[in-house]
Amino acid sequence: MISRELAIFAYLPDEVSEVPAGLLSLSEEGAISIGASFVYGSRYLARPNAIEIDPVSLSLREKHELVGTELYPAPGLPYFGAIRDAAPDAWGRRVIEAKRKVPLNSLPESEYLLAAGSNRVGALDVRLDINLPSTQGMPSDVHSLEYLIEAAQRIEEGLPIPTRLEAFFDAGTALGGARPKATVIDDQGKLWMAKFPSKSDGYNIPLVETSTLRLAQLAGIRIPELKDPIILAKGINVMLIERFDRVGAAKTMTRKHFISALTLLGCPEADSPRKNYADIADAMRKYGAAPMLAANLKELFSRMVFNILVTNDDDHLRNHGMLWVPQHQAWELSPLYDVVPKPTHATERFLHLGIGQQGRLATLDNALSCYARFGLTRDGAIEVIKQVWSIVREWKGCFEEFGVSGSEIDKISSAFRHARDIGGKKIGLF
Ligand SMILES: Nc1ncnc2c1ncn2[C@@H]1O[C@H](COP(=O)(O)OP(=O)(O)OP(=O)(O)O)[C@@H](O)[C@H]1O
Ligand SMILES: [Mg+2]
Repeated sequence: MISRELAIFAYLPDEVSEVPAGLLSLSEEGAISIGASFVYGSRYLARPNAIEIDPVSLSLREKHELVGTELYPAPGLPYFGAIRDAAPDAWGRRVIEAKRKVPLNSLPESEYLLAAGSNRVGALDVRLDINLPSTQGMPSDVHSLEYLIEAAQRIEEGLPIPTRLEAFFDAGTALGGARPKATVIDDQGKLWMAKFPSKSDGYNIPLVETSTLRLAQLAGIRIPELKDPIILAKGINVMLIERFDRVGAAKTMTRKHFISALTLLGCPEADSPRKNYADIADAMRKYGAAPMLAANLKELFSRMVFNILVTNDDDHLRNHGMLWVPQHQAWELSPLYDVVPKPTHATERFLHLGIGQQGRLATLDNALSCYARFGLTRDGAIEVIKQVWSIVREWKGCFEEFGVSGSEIDKISSAFRHARDIGGKKIGLF
């Protein structure tokens, strides 16, 4: 077993440069993580605008007791959830492995953590030593998407990356998720996440994902800024979504601290399918910023209803996120991301997360069954369902306006459900 110490840095609210936050010790046996501990730096703890790294196991609520105290991850976790969120996920790992020419998942976690570089999601950075500077390279230019996509395709196919495409290694490692993607910078110095098509896609996912997020916005759900998908040679579409964990652009850009709902619930990834939307609501009640709580809980309920209506069954705990709100020293629901309709002919459908008293069954009456956990009255919850349904029922017209062709609409149409078929009558919608 090897024990490794890494320096954790934090970009504090409204500050463009980062400060050391503490020391992370990781115990590893090859690619397996055994355990971890963390000690906050005393100068960091003295800062009035220090951000708490992880609400469950590295809380700053009792700051004065933390000086020199060794802290441990939540039970069952080999390391801290918030630091796991700052590590690359499946796609970023493939990029790092391609760069180093090593087999799948063969590196120790500390290597993946370090390799993600300073453009990683959220406001944390991880370095070998407290005296080392940031490894923040310039993200790739938005005008170089043709090269980035070529590199992404080669990585998906397990092909080597020629020298002329090596810049992709910096752009592609920092982000989570499994689909091919990269961080790019536009002419104003603002950061965007570019999501590419994948070789196994059955339809135009970049365009459909962009359109689904826009549909959600019409239903009253907060989404990050989106550009119209960029169309490259051979009709390849690339989705461009604003990095919602960054504020401003260029030299004045600051960062927002991000954690996934997996971290908010303090659980290992394998537990995600056994968790419910109401569990996220309960954790938001514990760690959420009080002034936003009622609106955030209602929005979480809307997102669950939206996912039911569009069959987005990839709604796992990493696909829900929270951002740190400095004024309230607590967390709020991040804008929506990664919502994609899944075409299927199954009449009985399930989401990834539990919905209500009938478990993961994707129906509106099941959604209504736990309304109180979302701080809603029964009538209030029905109003939300009505509101979301009134928009989703018009999806075809909206998608046409967003530029989705008739043939693409046909390919995804089975994902969209009619409220009447999924309990709408039982809850009085018809
Ligand atoms: N607009 C954004 N700004 C900042 N971070 C984001 C944004 N969208 C997503 N993220 C972060 O990047 C991760 C990957 O993004 P996303 O979920 O869209 O990718 P994906 O590859 O489709 O994921 P999955 O593996 O769930 O299919 C998310 O889990 C979240 O941590
Ligand atoms: Mg995702």
